Amino acid sequence: KIYPVILSGGAGTRLWPLSRAAYPKQLLPLVSEQTMLQETVARVCAWPEALAPLVVCGNEHRFMIAEQLREMDVRPHAIVLEPQGKNTAPAVAAAALQLMRQDPDAVMLVLPADHVITNREAFHEAVRAAMRSVEQGALVTFGITPSKPETGYGYILRGAAHGDTGNFAVERFVEKPDLERAQGFVADGRYYWNSGMFLLRARDYLEELELHRPLIAAAVKDAVAKAYTDLDFCRLGEAAFGASPAESIDYAVMENTRRAVVVPADIGWSDVGSWSALQEVMPADAQGNVTRGDVYLDGVSNSLVRAESRMVAVLGLQDLIVVETDDAVLVAHKDKAQDVKGVVDQLKDKK
Ligand code: GDD
Ligand code: MG
Repeated sequence: KIYPVILSGGAGTRLWPLSRAAYPKQLLPLVSEQTMLQETVARVCAWPEALAPLVVCGNEHRFMIAEQLREMDVRPHAIVLEPQGKNTAPAVAAAALQLMRQDPDAVMLVLPADHVITNREAFHEAVRAAMRSVEQGALVTFGITPSKPETGYGYILRGAAHGDTGNFAVERFVEKPDLERAQGFVADGRYYWNSGMFLLRARDYLEELELHRPLIAAAVKDAVAKAYTDLDFCRLGEAAFGASPAESIDYAVMENTRRAVVVPADIGWSDVGSWSALQEVMPADAQGNVTRGDVYLDGVSNSLVRAESRMVAVLGLQDLIVVETDDAVLVAHKDKAQDVKGVVDQLKDKK
């Protein structure tokens, strides 16, 4: 049995103007009629081995998340609220401790709420493969064959076979290398991208966290001991959680643990970090255009055009991103998709 643990703490600033602080990307219907969070839940809840999901999120999104789960008739195991964002290592620890209260052998499938996986069957198969290594005490990550020297990802060097599991020991885990190193890893051919999804036993994760980041482990333990339940929500102890250092699971645990195993996963994965990444995973028309809403195109190709509240017409342009919303419009060349973050930074400065 597997507990899906869904991390829903990010902001998705590069998907402005659709994603906002109050409406981060995982709570929006970006690729289908369902929100990214709902897609994430739906992807795993159909599996016979999947138990009710546990969601870890910030206080400010709790009602939206509860409502989105209700819409799909999913009753969560718990919605754990962080008094403040401390990145993913403490969030996963809080989930692990919460689950172990009821099930000391709990196995967690840690899933970011904002990823796209186009091949659900292959993903299920990869999780089954990962289970074989988890049964031997491994912390398993899912490796994606890299297509470019992306510096925002973790890189995994695959090592020896992990027993007879069909999986591989992680020889080396490098989180967010600089461009030169990333280029070297891609050229090397033996490296995978870290997908940011993990299968691990709660107990094993906590052991490794205690070993490599005792301060995080102690603070979160205290925060869970002081947690209280309010309606459907589990509120972590505020002062205790606030005392935890902020760090991602990748830096805190995956770069340091000797128990990491990688399952190569060809599953149509994307973390849809930007509008151009979103365009790549969505079905396009014959001209390579992806559209949403009331859109008129003439002589347009390889573009993403999205109308939320008004009609949008585009004529004679290529490689464009147009996102119209009620109060803001983005028009950008596809090559500038990463720079949308700069708009948000500037808006924050103005406030
Ligand atoms: N609950 C909670 N609390 N969730 C969080 C927090 C937090 O404080 N911080 C981040 N998250 C969620 C985000 O919403 C996202 O779904 C997920 O955790 C990963 O966080 P990101 O901030 O998006 O991480 P990243 O993109 O820099 O790097 C990770 O993902 C890459 C693949 O997309 C790493 O795992 C990399 O190694 C990996 O390649
Ligand atoms: Mg990310």
